[in-house]
Amino acid sequence: MVEFKKFENGFEYVEVSNSSARVRIALQGAHVFHFARINEEPILWLSDTSDFETGKAIRGGVPICWPSFGMNNPELPQHGFARVCMWRVENYREIDKKTTQIIFTLKDTQESRELWNYSFLLELKVTISETLVMELITTNLDDKPFIITQAFHTYFQISDISNVAIGGLSDKPYLDALTDKHHVQKGDITFSGEFDCVFQEVESEILLIDKNCTIRIKNEGSSSVVVWNPWIEKCKRMSGMRDDAYKEFVCIESANAFEDFKILEPKEFHTLKATIC
Ligand code: BG6
Repeated sequence: MVEFKKFENGFEYVEVSNSSARVRIALQGAHVFHFARINEEPILWLSDTSDFETGKAIRGGVPICWPSFGMNNPELPQHGFARVCMWRVENYREIDKKTTQIIFTLKDTQESRELWNYSFLLELKVTISETLVMELITTNLDDKPFIITQAFHTYFQISDISNVAIGGLSDKPYLDALTDKHHVQKGDITFSGEFDCVFQEVESEILLIDKNCTIRIKNEGSSSVVVWNPWIEKCKRMSGMRDDAYKEFVCIESANAFEDFKILEPKEFHTLKATIC
């Protein structure tokens, strides 16, 4: 079932439910802000102080960073502009009783061209079953090539930051964004302070190992993964989250970031795909 809903302030979202799971996706940013299997706890973290406000990114869920990740393109706002644009629902269909697919699109506007002077089509295909599959397809509709960096900036709900480990990144080179130094990861990642690292050359599955469950993340069309937790001090400075919210989430971001940028020639397209199960 696909229902078009609004919060009291008029903020619009789509709720998709089937016999496997329920998701909620805001039209602003095509932002998946809820995913839970039926009778289970949410897999995505959503800040309980996040405002659903026009022009402001939702804190939690899966913000789409596009056409620039972080400050990879310093001429654009942090994480680009797609997360605060109004997308449109292009179509949806029930594949079977357990699986629903919905497609959102975003095209360039006069406003987007003032920030980034290219013509493009951006499509987000979300397939909902016990697994959440997100595909972000960028097509260059311009007559000149463009460069993108991007990410599904996924916030995962966890029992407590001290309980979790991230597997699948051992032996991968990474840039520590806090020190701007390059290292190679040894073993699983655990957290005892602020963490903001960009892993490169990642082809394998990533595991988020919590006390009572393990989530698997498989990325395609991407070889970079960002792992982020703001910890105590940065959390206090962050908008849209409580001071101790850092205990409740970790971000594992399926990306094309830094050296993993993509150049698209006219008419070319690229798909970034993340499968969460
Ligand atoms: C992460 C970055 O991807 O996003 C962090 O690595 C940043 O440095 C975080 O703080 C949140 O960004 P924003 O723009 O959503 O507050």
